[in-house]
Amino acid sequence: MHFLITAGPTREFIDDVRFLSNTSSGRMGCALARAAKDAGGRVTLVYGAIAGAPPECDRLVPVTSAEEMRNAVIEHAARADAIIMAAAVADYRPAERTPGKIKKSDGELVLRLARTPDILAELGRQKGDRILVGFALEAENARENALRKLRAKNLDLIVVNGPAAMGAERASVELLFAAGASQKLSNLSKAEIAARIIRAVETLKVNPQGSTDGPSRTADPGS
Ligand code: CTP
Repeated sequence: MHFLITAGPTREFIDDVRFLSNTSSGRMGCALARAAKDAGGRVTLVYGAIAGAPPECDRLVPVTSAEEMRNAVIEHAARADAIIMAAAVADYRPAERTPGKIKKSDGELVLRLARTPDILAELGRQKGDRILVGFALEAENARENALRKLRAKNLDLIVVNGPAAMGAERASVELLFAAGASQKLSNLSKAEIAARIIRAVETLKVNPQGSTDGPSRTADPGS
């Protein structure tokens, strides 16, 4: 299988030395790339400003902004069997980028923001027979919000996590499948979570109505 995976935060520049970004380390996306390689897949990794070096992949595509990530993902999407959007893409960018460095002055500085492209939503509109996986970082009403995103973006699977997962070593997540099943993964390393997600994607590729890799429709190995 050919996996297209995204990792890490994007950076949206205000001027030449300042940017808006988020606390994503890219660990989850890199763990997914490793897990996909371990499972014998071909991997294209499109990554933002991750902490450390990216893992060994068949193709590495470094990007900076959401716009660049969108262009790289769309360019490589046609050759992918599965696309996993683990990147923490900025939803907004400064409406204009000032060349050089903005000088400070007395009083407030108002920054006008513009929306970035929603990469996953665009992929969902031209899905074909690709497996599409998204992440939902939810502070409240996690399940409800994530299911809304799953449907709105035409995904096969959404991985729900909380703000505590950002940059952390271990995490608890829930996998919600378009077909209705769910799977809780509690307090596992990102490598373990990644391996489970890759297995779920492989199962979906063989049987798009399929869901979990176990006999039960829900499982909670951590409890
Ligand atoms: N995503 C994307 N392009 C964007 C923003 C997000 O492709 N411009 C992807 C992320 O990679 C993730 C999924 O969309 O897989 C969900 O992102 P999230 O930020 O949780 O949700 P949003 O859809 O941006 O909604 P909100 O911020 O309102 O919760």
